Amino acid sequence: MKKEIILTGERPTGRLHIGHYAGALARRVEMQNSGKYETFVIIADDQALTDNADDPQKVHDSVLQVAIDNLAVGIDPAKSTMFIQSQIPELKELTFYYMNLVTLARLQRNPTVKTEIANNREKFGASVPTGFLVYPISQAADITAFDATIVPVGEDQMPVIEQTHEIVHKFNSLYGETLVMPRGIVNENEKARRMPGTDGGAKMGKSIGNVINLGDSADTIAAQVKTMFTDPLHLRVEDPGHTENNPVFHYLSVFAKPEHFAAFLPEYADYAELAAHYERGGLGDVKVKKFLNDVLQEILRPIRERREAIARDPGAVMEILRSGTIAARERAAATTDRVKKAMGLVYF
Ligand code: TRP
Repeated sequence: MKKEIILTGERPTGRLHIGHYAGALARRVEMQNSGKYETFVIIADDQALTDNADDPQKVHDSVLQVAIDNLAVGIDPAKSTMFIQSQIPELKELTFYYMNLVTLARLQRNPTVKTEIANNREKFGASVPTGFLVYPISQAADITAFDATIVPVGEDQMPVIEQTHEIVHKFNSLYGETLVMPRGIVNENEKARRMPGTDGGAKMGKSIGNVINLGDSADTIAAQVKTMFTDPLHLRVEDPGHTENNPVFHYLSVFAKPEHFAAFLPEYADYAELAAHYERGGLGDVKVKKFLNDVLQEILRPIRERREAIARDPGAVMEILRSGTIAARERAAATTDRVKKAMGLVYF
């Protein structure tokens, strides 16, 4: 039986952090290792440039970092194809044809694009680059180029997948069954897909300084956990505490497994018991933070060690990307041929 095809990945605009790990990467590795899918991992540098045109160096340098992050968490080039978007010109060809199938008004109404424009006021001012506005079309090109049927994304990206659905539908109804209809999926653990920053803010960002990166040292992790926000109403140990909107408990609910309790905090069997005690009162933040630090160190240590080993040989990483990109380009070129034939763009 033909395996379902997964396309997933990220924009290279910096190092990946534990929000990426919880929301996307851990599951990506699991799906890869299940052997049930053919996995493509896109490093979407062209898309990153749609709102970072002023900083191509950052995007360029982040390509290698994002590749190393993926390898460090367990993406295996023998099982998955990791590639660089900008090196596949067919993706831009497809984008150009799909642009005729989407109205300007529809793009302006896309909720993902609207939110991102609102969040980027400072950068964009009143005028949004055309390239940014059409990035959902380029993402439809990415997805359809690989005949992907499963597209794991953050929930904020679902309207972009919806846009792909419309493009596939329109293309196939105008030019005949050509493109494969994908399905977007989000992490089923709602807490894992909405990881707050260490300050409790909804967005993690390097510029905000509220992130823990995958390669961070043990000391950096410990320092970040120490300064993490908790429940501002939990002043004395005996006070009842709130676990809602408390980033320490949010992280624990995602990361702390029974084996972590057994190893570091055996008075409690699991998260539910710990949270209940905090809410009753009598459990101090220092103890909870110490446990979170133990858990994060345990999860991040092997990732950091693999990361360091991989980063020692950037040439080998580039070779993985080079061969991944060659393989990916073959697939994208085959789809582009199909698309051009369907549209009657064959002359010689
Ligand atoms: N939009 C994704 C992000 O913000 C990156 C991306 C580009 C992507 N093309 C894709 C994700 C295709 C899944 C499928 O990180």
